Amino acid sequence: MKGIILAGGAGTRLFPITKVLSKQILPLYDKPMIYYPLSVLMLAGIREILIISTPRDLSLFKELFGDGAWLGMKFEYKVQENPRGLADAFIVGSDFIGKESCVMVLGDNVFYGRGFTKVLRDTRTKIESEGGGAIFGYYVKDPKAYGVVDFDEDGRALSIEEKPEYPKSHYAVPGLYFYDNSVIDIAKNVKPSKRGEIEITAVNNAYLNKNNLYVQTLGRGMTWLDTGTYDGLLEAANFIETIQKRQGMYVSCIEEIAFSNGWISKDELINLAAIYKTEYGDYLNFIAENV
Ligand code: DAU
Repeated sequence: MKGIILAGGAGTRLFPITKVLSKQILPLYDKPMIYYPLSVLMLAGIREILIISTPRDLSLFKELFGDGAWLGMKFEYKVQENPRGLADAFIVGSDFIGKESCVMVLGDNVFYGRGFTKVLRDTRTKIESEGGGAIFGYYVKDPKAYGVVDFDEDGRALSIEEKPEYPKSHYAVPGLYFYDNSVIDIAKNVKPSKRGEIEITAVNNAYLNKNNLYVQTLGRGMTWLDTGTYDGLLEAANFIETIQKRQGMYVSCIEEIAFSNGWISKDELINLAAIYKTEYGDYLNFIAENV
């Protein structure tokens, strides 16, 4: 399975912060925002990743991650000329995906919680072996700003609506999507919505209509954070700070995950630590010596 991080868009909801800079490169406490969704793909065991961003911003991500070898991974990059919608990622990324299945995470989505790695690995295995698509539902107070999924009494998904005025449930669909290879053809056939975008919700509905969509709810113990507003950004940063200071363990430390996945050696981790003369570097040394 291959991984895609969609990290483009105009970022207008965060102007002027994002007037000249990609949203997904902004700091969330001690790391660039994209580290958080990248860590999700790494926890799923995904080693080959495509980053899609704007003509203006793609070079930033190239500079940040290079070819990915320093993480024992392989990174590729592709421009999305215009923000045509989330489903466009599978068209832009079709050569990269090739004949494989894929998982896409939005470059501004943050996940954190116990048992999440197992959920990711199990979902990956399910899609790789059985095909179809898999998405998640996360209970939020106000789901109007998201894709919203509602369920029947047996927990089967009934419908998915994009930003409904009158949501049928409180379950928002986070920006993390697993699909078999047919997603490329499905995306190519999606018609633009009223807001002119080819919506990921249309892709999910195509799978749902074929009875081929697996929807799991993420429980209260999971955290899924929104970074789409000034307050959301600050609250997410404060959340990360609180957890890290209390536990002394980092959230979404990509070097740590690469090491624990066995993709880089202890010496390589120590070499990375030496580059950062910060608490982050100290943490990498701690992991190298103690984990
Ligand atoms: O965050 C989860 C939500 O993401 C889902 O619940 C919705 O179903 C889904 O449509 C999406 O809603 P948003 O309103 O958050 O989408 P937005 O247009 O803000 O785009 C999400 C991210 O993807 C954002 O960081 C910008 C980037 N993006 C967006 C578009 C439309 C691209 O890179 N290219 C694009 O063409």
